[in-house]
Amino acid sequence: MTKAHIHILKDANEVSVKAADMIQEVVEQNERPVLGLATGSTPLGMYRELIDRYQAGEIDFSAVRTFNLDEYYGLAPDHPQSYYQFMMKSFFEHVNVPLEQIHIPHGKPTDVQAYCQQYDAWIEKAGGIDLQILGIGVNGHIGFNEPADELQPFTHLVRLKEETIEANARFFERREDVPQYAITMGIRNILQAKKIILLAIGEDKAAAVAGMLNAGITTRLPATFLQLHDHVHVLVDEAAASKLVSTSR
Ligand code: F6R
Repeated sequence: MTKAHIHILKDANEVSVKAADMIQEVVEQNERPVLGLATGSTPLGMYRELIDRYQAGEIDFSAVRTFNLDEYYGLAPDHPQSYYQFMMKSFFEHVNVPLEQIHIPHGKPTDVQAYCQQYDAWIEKAGGIDLQILGIGVNGHIGFNEPADELQPFTHLVRLKEETIEANARFFERREDVPQYAITMGIRNILQAKKIILLAIGEDKAAAVAGMLNAGITTRLPATFLQLHDHVHVLVDEAAASKLVSTSR
């Protein structure tokens, strides 16, 4: 059983619109809103929707500060497959978040440990994250907190699991090009957000979504840790909801 608010929506478009509505609300209600952002295929429609609203003059991002969840380790910000480039092309180049208010983990820091601590300090200095957007991996990861014996609380370097490398190979020319490590916010960073929205689209996420909501809390399915948070909204399309038992609808 879970306290999460589960929204089962017709399709990917409805998920994107609902997520954009929730972001807009936080942006409008806070003087200096802090958003935690994700990359990947899932939030692309949401970014598109927010860009459309910005271009229609319906939303202003000038006071928004952002922190991305993760970045591939070893890819500099100018690398075409870096999450830095992904975020610029998919969102930031089209809206008015000032560059100095955007934070995306650097993929090639000189001192990884010091950099991770710095990233946590920046989040804290910003007053914490008001709204964190999450996708979910087919293996139940959130950010790049992969299934493991132990999870890390704060921003850290992590070795990606084979299934994650496999899933993300579609963005690279060759599978060997997918980085094996990433820098990611930790579980505590995520749980410290005031509000969390997890988006899941498509049948290949159905098992992870069902596990996240119905299993006990386990490091083997990191998204189960969201059960510890009081303000989680799960936005799923019908395909991603297809393995939920009826009591949790
Ligand atoms: C991305 C991230 C990942 C993705 C997840 C789902 O910043 O943190 O946890 O959200 O791997 O990826 P997609 O949306 O591509 O299926």
